[in-house]
Amino acid sequence: MKTIDLRSDTLTRPSRPMREYMMYAEVGDDVFAEDPTINQLQSMIAEMTGKEAALFVTSGTQANQISINAHTQPGDEVICDYNAHIFNYESGAAGMLSGVQLHPVTGRNGHPTVEQIEAVIRPFDDHYPQTKLICLENTHNRAGGTVFPIEQIAAVAELVEKHRLKMHLDGARLWNAAIATGLKIADYAQYFDSVALCFSKGLGAPAGSIIAGSKEFIKRAHFYRKACGGGMRQAGILAAAAIYAVENHFELLKRDHEHARLLAEALNDCPGISVNMEQTKTNIVIAELTDGRMTAEEMVEKLAGEGILVFPFSPVKVRFVTHLDVSRAAIEEAVTIIHKLFGQGK
Ligand SMILES: Cc1ncc(COP(=O)(O)O)c(C=O)c1O
Repeated sequence: MKTIDLRSDTLTRPSRPMREYMMYAEVGDDVFAEDPTINQLQSMIAEMTGKEAALFVTSGTQANQISINAHTQPGDEVICDYNAHIFNYESGAAGMLSGVQLHPVTGRNGHPTVEQIEAVIRPFDDHYPQTKLICLENTHNRAGGTVFPIEQIAAVAELVEKHRLKMHLDGARLWNAAIATGLKIADYAQYFDSVALCFSKGLGAPAGSIIAGSKEFIKRAHFYRKACGGGMRQAGILAAAAIYAVENHFELLKRDHEHARLLAEALNDCPGISVNMEQTKTNIVIAELTDGRMTAEEMVEKLAGEGILVFPFSPVKVRFVTHLDVSRAAIEEAVTIIHKLFGQGK
């Protein structure tokens, strides 16, 4: 049986042309900042984000955690969304590695509002931790790949300025937000002191993320990257994959979004299954089980029996993620299987 693996967009494997591009990459010692391919990637992303500098790092988690560390002191407080990746899926690293406290607020669709954030910014008082940083996530993974409205980001940025705080973007999938809205990476990045982008999600590189910000921020980030064991040597072969991915796969995300839409429509058509179509604009689909007939675990098992792999996200939610290695034909096959298993026509 052929497998259609929709568990995550991190599952993509480097294609032959990507591997060939990697093979011919010029390399050097990046801890000495002497890897020409990494330097090329960093310049490319600094330009794309409209920032002064960028730093290649091992993963999305490291990108976020280095950024948190570079913006804060131990004891500070960081405001984020309750469903944010940094709050849920980074092994408690903000507390473990930077000694900061996360203060989550429950934003709608993963997007905290100005009012929600302002309500939890601490006044100066010996009793309180000091609020230092706001972290936003775009697109938002747990909320279903939702795109953060840019006007709302601009309003949060104004608040951040008023309170002299810093703002970081977990933009692991900012690529998807840009493709979904037609906005540029820099249109989003302008509001943030630091931006993290991943190459190994929808873009299909085997590893690597990057952070962009001011020269001063990147200098601090460079120090902390070394301290947490993220200094790599001839990693230009990985940077080459990232360059290849940005140049060849960025526009292809549009296809993943179309595929997600097809899946979402098919699921939404099944009795007892609901997808918020308004929020499904990128490559993540969250199917909600609404009538108690089936649990998320049961749905995952039924699909696995037909070769479709997906993740349970809660007792009543199942996540489907489209990506580079899932073709249109595979999506059409998945739609047929979904209708066969769960019925059609509400
Ligand atoms: C929104 C978001 N941020 C950060 C990460 C972390 O990336 P990595 O797995 O490369 O550490 C992920 C991973 O899926 C993510 O979805």
